[in-house]
Amino acid sequence: LRLGVLGSGEGSNLRALIRSIQNLELDAQIVAAITDQGDSGFLKIAKGEGLPVHHVHGGANPRRFDEEAQKKVAEILKEAAVDVVVLTGFMRILKSPILDAFTDRIVNVHPSLLPAYKGATAVQDVLDEGELETGCTVHLVNAEIDAGRILAQAKVPILVGDNAEKLHARIKEQEHRLLPKVLAEWKRA
Ligand code: GRF
Repeated sequence: LRLGVLGSGEGSNLRALIRSIQNLELDAQIVAAITDQGDSGFLKIAKGEGLPVHHVHGGANPRRFDEEAQKKVAEILKEAAVDVVVLTGFMRILKSPILDAFTDRIVNVHPSLLPAYKGATAVQDVLDEGELETGCTVHLVNAEIDAGRILAQAKVPILVGDNAEKLHARIKEQEHRLLPKVLAEWKRA
């Protein structure tokens, strides 16, 4: 399975994918690692592992993704003959140049039990609502944010004394198991 991985943050899910490939738990290759953040953990890990890495400038608004930049990313992904596009905390919203080229072949990992707590502040929102349990979701990506078909979920209990940082760290532990597992079971269309 040829993976194109996109991320904007710490890069812990990228690292988990690399480990799963090295451990032979996941039969895949990361053929493109793409980030919009020049100073991210994601970029450092990708470079450190010698992955084919691309830093694209998505535009001034950190959530929007310039049309031109999206066309460029779609080209990179096609050129690398990517089978599945994996979003690991990529903060810009994908539109048609990428969505149309990879329909049903884009997965995202989200830190809540979707459909509950969509959006960029899910971990804090769960705490603010006083929930007792949350988790993570791996789902397909379409034009509607955090609403594509759910592929797998894992639960995480909320503990007394949790804050967003502690809780997010425990959610990520589950993401690191769940995302490689979903990809290992991926059925080629
Ligand atoms: C993950 O918690 C993911 O669910 C969310 O962004 C975070 C990315 O973490 N969408 P990392 O950069 O892989 O460490």
